[in-house]
Amino acid sequence: MKLILLGPPGAGKGTQAQFLCETFGIPQISTGNMLREAVTARTPLGLEVKAVMDSGGLVSDEIIIALVKDRIAADDCATGFLFDGFPRTIPQAEALVSAGVDINSVVEIQVDEEEIVRRISGRRVHEPSNRTYHIIFSPPKVDGVDDETGEALIQREDDREETVRERLRVYREQTEPLVSFYRAKADAHGSTISYVAVDGVGNVEDVRDVIIKKLRNE
Ligand code: AP5
Repeated sequence: MKLILLGPPGAGKGTQAQFLCETFGIPQISTGNMLREAVTARTPLGLEVKAVMDSGGLVSDEIIIALVKDRIAADDCATGFLFDGFPRTIPQAEALVSAGVDINSVVEIQVDEEEIVRRISGRRVHEPSNRTYHIIFSPPKVDGVDDETGEALIQREDDREETVRERLRVYREQTEPLVSFYRAKADAHGSTISYVAVDGVGNVEDVRDVIIKKLRNE
């Protein structure tokens, strides 16, 4: 199964990706996580992309497409994968078509902007595992530390309110056009792609159950 999770920053893509990957037995490919790992490891890629990520902009299509092509060539992607945060521009989506990658379903998680700002400002992350918490909506058992390892949680550099608003602006301008792009593909005669839109506001488990039911056509 090859899935795309689409939606604005903070919609819950990373949160739902973990459930979906477990349910369908596929790896999560989060370009955001891959880039942040490169930044933390101070690789040449990380040094190149840090400033643009911190400012809320998008990394170039060229870099992202190369990164993803390399990742999906790995053995664990042979039977499918879930893209989280990719594609994010029309050229990235077209690169998938050119590479002959047949997507089965696109899941759009819809959340309004004020809710997003509330969510992102309370987000805390365990960096080594990418486990995500929210100080109010899904808090760790002990304040500031990861449930499984007891290690410290961090706040992402790009989670300051003004940067979040810039990320939302970039989403509207460059990523939202993918909604029409994929809806049109799903509506085309003989299409094999399904387009699933879900309301991302509500309990995390309820959102998960709705997505899984829709993907299973239940
Ligand atoms: P990336 O890491 O992809 O960030 P994003 O798309 O902005 O998404 P987020 O990780 O912020 O949010 P999410 O939807 O995963 O929400 P989450 O589940 O954490 O990208 C970061 C940067 O990398 C980009 O800005 C760009 O610079 C670069 N980049 C990445 N991919 C790129 C690409 N393809 N092209 C170019 N550049 C690229 O949830 C958010 C919070 O809400 C959490 O605290 C969570 O606990 C909470 N929450 C989740 N669900 C619920 C719920 N139902 N109710 C209440 N709270 C909830």
